[in-house]
This record gives sequence, C-alpha cells and structure tokens, in this order.
Amino acid sequence: MRVRLSVNGASHEHEIEPRLLLVHYLREVVGLTGTNVGCDTSSCGACTVLMDGESVKSCTVLAVQADGTEVTTIEGMARDGDMHPIQEAFREHHALQCGYCTPGMVMAAASLLEEHRDPTEAEVREGLEGNLCRCTGYHNIVKAVLAAGKARETA
Ligand code: FES
Ligand code: FES
Repeated sequence: MRVRLSVNGASHEHEIEPRLLLVHYLREVVGLTGTNVGCDTSSCGACTVLMDGESVKSCTVLAVQADGTEVTTIEGMARDGDMHPIQEAFREHHALQCGYCTPGMVMAAASLLEEHRDPTEAEVREGLEGNLCRCTGYHNIVKAVLAAGKARETA
C-alpha cells in the first residue's frame, strides 16, 4: 500500500506492507531512530509520537493509519539547534537517567501541555501514566513537565 504523510514537516511517500507498524516505519523506512521500542505491546510509551498533535503509541498504530497525517517525532522538537523547552526542562531537572523512555516522555508531555497549559502535579501524573520509566522514580520527570508548563505560562 502507498502512504503519504508528513514527518517533522517533511513529506514522505512510500510503498509499504499493510501490517507495518508506525514505529517501524519511522525507524526503518524514514530512518528516524529517536523513537524507541520498549515493549511492542502498548504498555510502556517509549514509542510515543504526535499524530496531528495528539500523542499516540506508535507501536499500536499501523503506518497506513498515519496516511495523510502530520507526525512529529522527538527529532522534530528542537529548532535551529536549540532544544525544545520541554527537552531543556528535562535536562535542567535531571529528569532522565538511561534516557530510553525520554523521547516518549517528551512527546507525551508535549501533548499534555497542549491540553493543559499549566497543569497541576496530579494532571501531569495522570497525563504521563501511560509512559513507564525504569530509572528515575518519576519525581524529576514530573518536576520537569511542571516547570515547562510554568515557563510557558509566564513566557
Ligand atoms: S513500545 Fe510502544 S508502548 Fe511500549
Ligand atoms: S530514564 Fe531510564 S527508563 Fe526512564
């Protein structure tokens, strides 16, 4: 099947197998390996990307379902060599250790902050509950997302 979609603002068109998952399309066909695969069974959130601005676990979406959409991956977050404010907040608040969950966390946070401009701690915890981290205990991740929300509110 043929798919045509935008990934991080660039158009892509490919002939693909109907059963190809979006995460594998992004990593293997488009060559963007920032999106990680943690579980492949929709449990961990490592593969989270934005599809038309909404966060989706890309291991649960077929690439053909993304036909005609705009997909944003972690590679699309920085601008002109500057980290996205959410990435900056993760760095500042030591919100990562091994970093494996981080791309998915940042994308889930981006979607959360679209919905709640300045979320409460409870809203952040609820918004990120589909994203697992084996290292950090979540505390600093929550702090980073709260700080990114505050920074946006005062910007
Ligand atoms: S790899 Fe998609 S949710 Fe874990
Ligand atoms: S930083 Fe290691 S899994 Fe989250």
